[in-house]
Amino acid sequence: MSDLGSIAWPPEPIKTERLVLRAAEAQDRAAFIELLASPEVNTFLGGPRSRDELERELPEVPERWPGSFVVELDGAMIGQILLRRATNHRRPAAAGKADLGYLFLPRAWGHGYATEACAAALDWLDGVLPGEPVVLTTQSANVGSMRLAAKLGFTEVERFEAWDAEQWLGMRPPVTPSA
Ligand SMILES: CC(C)(COP(=O)(O)OP(=O)(O)OC[C@H]1O[C@@H](n2cnc3c(N)ncnc32)[C@H](O)[C@@H]1OP(=O)(O)O)[C@@H](O)C(=O)NCCC(=O)NCCS
Repeated sequence: MSDLGSIAWPPEPIKTERLVLRAAEAQDRAAFIELLASPEVNTFLGGPRSRDELERELPEVPERWPGSFVVELDGAMIGQILLRRATNHRRPAAAGKADLGYLFLPRAWGHGYATEACAAALDWLDGVLPGEPVVLTTQSANVGSMRLAAKLGFTEVERFEAWDAEQWLGMRPPVTPSA
């Protein structure tokens, strides 16, 4: 994975009905540690990282790179959206395409926040990189993620085995700008 390249960053915070999407700030560090150390969040992502190690190693402002959005609810971080370029994706259908990832804190699951935030991030992407398809890879056993992908308009390209599990590769076709 690499970042999206030469786009203007950070953008103005993106406001949705209930959420704000913005670049990471120092105040988000504790929530990033919670996210990356959570066994629940990382069940399908290779497992949690050690909290002690994260405390030691995370920079003062973690994850501040073009395409990394902190999702905020009532002033506090509840998740992260990652828009990157799948430079070295193992499946040729995805290699080099824009790629969506998402992680939300368990207390924020089940309210539609991930759907609302990802839809806004994809709208933003359509604005800065018009006409680009977006890919998404998730374990097919990750039911919440599979449902989210479908709600966001991703359809199956293929399934493949990797990291000891079946993976689902989905794609969202490019949005055609209206004339
Ligand atoms: C994947 C993940 C982001 C999904 O989160 P989520 O909260 O289940 O996702 P959604 O925003 O789609 O919300 C789900 C539910 O909220 C419910 N909901 C409650 N209030 C709602 C509202 N006002 N509007 C919309 N939905 C609402 C919906 O019914 C929806 O359930 P459904 O999918 O059965 O219809 C979350 O499980 C997660 O962070 N997992 C760990 C990280 C991970 O595995 N990421 C995938 C790597 S690619």
